[in-house]
Formats: sequence, C-alpha cells, structure tokens
Amino acid sequence: MHPLWHLLFLIVAVQAIDLDLDDPASTKTTLHTLATQMLTHYTGNLPGDNPGNLPDPYYWWEAGAMFTALIDYWYLTSDTTFTNLTLQALTWQSGPSGSFMPANQTRTEGNDDQSFWAFAAMSAAERNFPDPPPELGVPGWLGMAQAVFNTQAARWDTGTCGGGLRWQIFTFNEGWMYKNTISNGCFFNLAARLALYTGNGTYMEWAERVWNWTEEVGFVTDEYRFWDGADVESACREWNRVEWTYNTGVYLLGAAVMYNLTESPTWRTRTQGILNASLVFFQNDVMYERACETINTCEVDQRAFKGFLARWMAATTQMAPFTFDQIMPKLRTSAKAAAETCTGGASHAACGLKWTDRKWDGMDDVGIQLAALEVIQSTLISRVDPPVTQDTGGTSRGNPGGGEPGPPVGEVPEGLRIEITGADRAGAGLVTALLGVIVLGSTGWLVYE
Ligand SMILES: *[C@@H]1O[C@H](CO)[C@@H](O)[C@H](O)[C@H]1NC(C)=O
Ligand SMILES: *[C@@H]1O[C@H](CO)[C@@H](O)[C@H](O)[C@H]1NC(C)=O
Ligand SMILES: *[C@@H]1O[C@H](CO)[C@@H](O)[C@H](O)[C@H]1NC(C)=O
Ligand SMILES: *[C@@H]1O[C@H](CO)[C@@H](O)[C@H](O)[C@H]1NC(C)=O
Ligand SMILES: *[C@@H]1O[C@H](CO)[C@@H](O)[C@H](O)[C@H]1NC(C)=O
Ligand SMILES: *[C@@H]1O[C@H](CO)[C@@H](O)[C@H](O)[C@H]1NC(C)=O
Repeated sequence: MHPLWHLLFLIVAVQAIDLDLDDPASTKTTLHTLATQMLTHYTGNLPGDNPGNLPDPYYWWEAGAMFTALIDYWYLTSDTTFTNLTLQALTWQSGPSGSFMPANQTRTEGNDDQSFWAFAAMSAAERNFPDPPPELGVPGWLGMAQAVFNTQAARWDTGTCGGGLRWQIFTFNEGWMYKNTISNGCFFNLAARLALYTGNGTYMEWAERVWNWTEEVGFVTDEYRFWDGADVESACREWNRVEWTYNTGVYLLGAAVMYNLTESPTWRTRTQGILNASLVFFQNDVMYERACETINTCEVDQRAFKGFLARWMAATTQMAPFTFDQIMPKLRTSAKAAAETCTGGASHAACGLKWTDRKWDGMDDVGIQLAALEVIQSTLISRVDPPVTQDTGGTSRGNPGGGEPGPPVGEVPEGLRIEITGADRAGAGLVTALLGVIVLGSTGWLVYE
C-alpha cells in the first residue's frame, strides 16, 4: 500500500468523532457516543450500588451536574436512552422531602453541591421531563427545586458579611468560615428561574437580594469579573481573586432570566456586562479554564467547570435573545475544538481537558467528558423551544412550602454531632475555594490582575 494510504487509515482510526455542527444528526450521533463514554464511569445503576453516586475520586455534586447534562441531552436530542437512569438517580438522591440532603453526604455537601442537584430538578421542570411516578413518594421536579430554595433561604446569614450563604451547610465541614461566589450564584440562578417558572415575586426578590449582596461584598467587580469568595473573618473583604468560568456562567444565566422577567435596562446591562467579561475565558473563540489549564493544575472538580459556562451561555440565548449572535460563534468554535480532543480510549471517544490543544491528553475523566458533552450539545439550543413556565405548558408538581426546615445557621442538627478526625476532613464538596485560600500565591492557579 502507498504510504499515504497508511497515513490516511491512521487518521481515520484515531478520528472516531466526525462532527458536522450544521448537521443535527451528526451532532446527535457524536453526543450519544460521548455520553456513553461518560457513563462508563457510572455504576450507580448496577445492583447493590447507590443510584446517583459516582465512584471516587468524583464528589457527589458532580453526579448532579452529570444528570443535569443528561436532562439537557434528552431535550436537545430527543434520545431517551438515559432517561430512566436519570430519573432513578434524581429520585434516589432527592430524598422524600426533595431537598437533596442525603445523610450519606453530610460530610461533603455544601450549598453549591446541593444546588448542582437542584439544577437537575429545575431543568427537568423547565423541560417537562417526565415527573417522578407518585408511588416513589417524592415531590415533583418543581417541588424539589422549591425545597432546595427553601432550605437555602433559611441559611441566609446576615450575622457575617451583611448576608450571603456560607460555602458549607454544616459547621464541622472545612469551609464553614468561607462565603463563596458559586454558592451564592447558584442560589441567585435558582431563585431567578423559580421566579420565571412560577411567577411568584418572593423568588424574584430573593434573586435581587443575592445580586445586591454579591455587589456590596465585592465578589463581582464593576467590570463584572467574579472572584472566588472570602473568609467571614475578614468580613468578606479579603477576596480570593481566582476567576472560574462557572461563576461567570451561573450569574450570566441568572441575570438573563431576570432580564426576561423584568425587561429592565438594569438587568440587560448586567447580562451584557457579564457576557463582555466572559471573553477572558476564550482564546480565539475557544473556551479555556485560564486559572489552571495554562499551568496544568486543574483538579478533579475544576475539569468540568467550562461545561457549565457553555450550558448557561446556551440557556442565556433563549432568555435574552439579544445575546444570541454574540454567544453562538463562541460555542460553535469551542464545540468543534472540544470534539477534536475526543479521540482517546478504547472507544476513541474519551475527550481531552484543553480544547485549545485540539488533541487528546491521555485522560479518561467524568468532568472532562461532561464539559465536552455540554459544549457540543449547547450548539443545538436554537433548534429547541425555550423553557416552559407554569403559564406556558409546564406541568411539574410544585410545593412552595417544601423541604424540611434547614438547621438554624451555625447549629449542628441532632445525630450529626460527630468528632471529626483529620482523615474525615478531606471530604468537603467543591474544593476550589478552600484550596484557593491555602494555595493562593504559590503555584495552584493563576490570578490575573
Ligand atoms: C424506562 O422504564 C420504563 C418502566 O420501567 C420502561 O417501560 C421503558 O421501556 C424504559 N425506557 C427505556 C428507554 O429504557
Ligand atoms: C446511603 O448509604 C447506604 C449504605 O451504603 C445505602 O444503602 C443508601 O442507599 C445510601 N443513600 C443514598 C441516598 O445514596
Ligand atoms: C411564593 O414563594 C414563597 C417562598 O417560598 C412561599 O412562601 C409562598 O407561599 C409562595 N406563594 C405562592 C402563592 O405560591
Ligand atoms: C437591591 O438594590 C436596589 C438598588 O439599591 C434596591 O432598589 C432594591 O430594593 C434592592 N433589592 C433588595 C431585594 O434588597
Ligand atoms: C460590552 O462591550 C461592548 C463592545 O466592547 C461595549 O460597547 C459595551 O458598552 C459593553 N457593555 C457593557 C454593559 O459592559
Ligand atoms: C424571554 O424569553 C422568551 C422565550 O425565549 C423570548 O421569546 C422573549 O423574547 C424573551 N424576552 C426578552 C425581553 O428578551
């Protein structure tokens, strides 16, 4: 055979993903392959395992993020392959009250972790994902999102920093003394979406309160850059100025929803301002996690973050259509670059962390796979209807009073007063913030002035 033919066969062999973004069928085939690869890590649906859990080293929150992506996947592709798996995981982890506070996760669950599961429930309501059958004895998707909202509103802590949610829910978890942007951004995002879905003004007021506080405490700058958070002991004034894609994303969608709801110039300016500031996370229109990718320090959690910026940018185009022409070229270029990294593993469908490198890096990781899935499926957004609300066909069962009342701020509920040993402390949820405090100034990640 001519050597050139050899070369061609070689290229075909490693280039398993053949993605044409202008052809929805090609995009859907690619997405199915990538989702299947992602789920090779998931064992929760096997007999004897716990539905909704990923094995080590993945924390509980990341499974919630994964199932949210699979709900979007179902909606964007109409493929029902993973819907039963998703329903099983969500109803198992939501618990009878629907607030996603499973006792098994007490040592790892912070407010942000809880919210990443709440987003699965919220997306399910917004997309009319089949509600859980009544015999399971759990609330509907809307009821779950409301239950999480209620537990978090009860944790709003005016005792320090003039308000805000702490990172952690329980005093004995590392990170209790830290207030972080993602926990508050998630609460903001959820409140705004509940306001739009239900039309209940209480949620809107809460969204406004969280935004106001985020500004007052300086976690968002006048140029709409988002810092990671700060210790309550500094009255939230000594900021950890690491910038992550998902903070920008979570506030972007929340602002866009508030704009959709109010049509106010203020929320339009905020939406546009956050979008402008998000440009720092792109290199030639390809998204990258600049705090860690350039210096190769992205940790397990952080490998997924870009996917959430992609998810929320796509959702923003539906809530604030004036952003569509600015957002779509970036998502499409990023999606193409991401797909080029997906040549790894036995299936030739494991993706790489750095989309800017456009090649696989030897890893097979849930977060990396999730991010690639999110950015590629985000390009289908213009082909589907916007989210439903109660007035436009939303049928999910709600319960505005749902969720068992959370423990009072600072108090450890009965039965959870455990002596924590050194070894137990490693468990805290989204570890970004805490490590930020420790590593900042050395080599953990880059802070840009
Ligand atoms: C999902 O589960 C239902 C009920 O057990 C079953 O009828 C259906 O075929 C399943 N769907 C898929 C896609 O596996
Ligand atoms: C909690 O752990 C127990 C024991 O492993 C298990 O039976 C149960 O299903 C777990 N609960 C959840 C919600 O994962
Ligand atoms: C609106 O939401 C608040 C906060 O959850 C709740 O207390 C109230 O009952 C809701 N109102 C209606 C009419 O559902
Ligand atoms: C948020 O701040 C604006 C401007 O200062 C103010 O008008 C509004 O009442 C505040 N909203 C809440 C809920 O605190
Ligand atoms: C966003 O960027 C555009 C173009 O640079 C600029 O004209 C506009 O004023 C910016 N908007 C906001 C709200 O920052
Ligand atoms: C709000 O969202 C709907 C659904 O996507 C859209 O049709 C409408 O134009 C949006 N409103 C504004 C003010 O952009």
